[in-house]
Amino acid sequence: MADQGMQSPADAAAGQPAGWPPAGPAGPRDWREEERIAEFTARLERGEKVEAGDWMPSEYRRQCLRLIQTHANSEIMGALPEREWIPRAPTLRRKLALMAKVQDEVGHAQLIYRVAEDLAAPLGITREDMMDALVAGKAKFHNVFSYPAPTWADAGIIAWLVDGAALVTQAALLQTSYAPYARILRRICAEEAIHLKHGEDIILTLMSGTRAQQQMVQHALNRWWRPLLHFFGPPDEMSPNLEQAMKWRIKVRTNEELRQEFLSKYVPQIRALGLQIPDPELHYDEAQGRWVYGDPDWDEFWRVVKGQGPRTEARLAIRRLSHEESRWVREALARGAAAA
Ligand SMILES: [Fe+2]
Ligand SMILES: [Fe+2]
Repeated sequence: MADQGMQSPADAAAGQPAGWPPAGPAGPRDWREEERIAEFTARLERGEKVEAGDWMPSEYRRQCLRLIQTHANSEIMGALPEREWIPRAPTLRRKLALMAKVQDEVGHAQLIYRVAEDLAAPLGITREDMMDALVAGKAKFHNVFSYPAPTWADAGIIAWLVDGAALVTQAALLQTSYAPYARILRRICAEEAIHLKHGEDIILTLMSGTRAQQQMVQHALNRWWRPLLHFFGPPDEMSPNLEQAMKWRIKVRTNEELRQEFLSKYVPQIRALGLQIPDPELHYDEAQGRWVYGDPDWDEFWRVVKGQGPRTEARLAIRRLSHEESRWVREALARGAAAA
């Protein structure tokens, strides 16, 4: 997922996991380091990739880790809203499909934490530190997973449009300069494309059902539209790290470019189903060549990023409980590995 360009004021408020290097250059650099950074930047501008063992500027490491750790956190937290629907899925087939999807998301988190671990190791940060930071509410995860999913249609909208938004973002990140991340994203994107089909199928079934089922989808869309616009992060001018991230090709598309791609892809599909998008200002401006949308309330976005979403605390409590209950497994594995 996108890291949503989650910078100040959120960074200051939400904090970073202990041990992270400070944002920006830590102090005056000597000319040799300047030269090394210039060579590194030139390599990336030529389209070369960075491997885990390569030398990299500390700011490059920090930005990659921030993006990748937030993605890993989002996969594991993203399993929770849909998990709530496993016992209540309307048929056995739906239950099995949802269980498989939730399992995929947790698997994505495992793959991505492995990449984050390699980046974090030279900083003395372990996976356990990352998990501790997450359950303590000190590490970020995606805004969309702080919202409630009160109906089965919400499970459908999440799988169709939230996974659809994730796929737009992650497909762009296939071109990232950090090669280990790009490699695991290839597998993740393939699985996300299946999640999208699962979501589409839920929504198409409901939309060809009763009036009450169609209204349930409309109400779910009304709830998710704003979080979906927030999904891609704040406007580019509110993302202070974006310029450097683009220069180093950590990211290759801006937040607004991704949001526009999502709108171009999904607005026609949503309308074709007979659903109303809850934004009277939304239209495609031919002259500007872009979608124009109403104010998505960026204050709400920043509140959610700072951990004040409607379900943030409840979902973190579930993750904390699960982390505690599985502690003995991690400890047994660690003892086994130490003894081997
Ligand atoms: Fe995923
Ligand atoms: Fe997914």
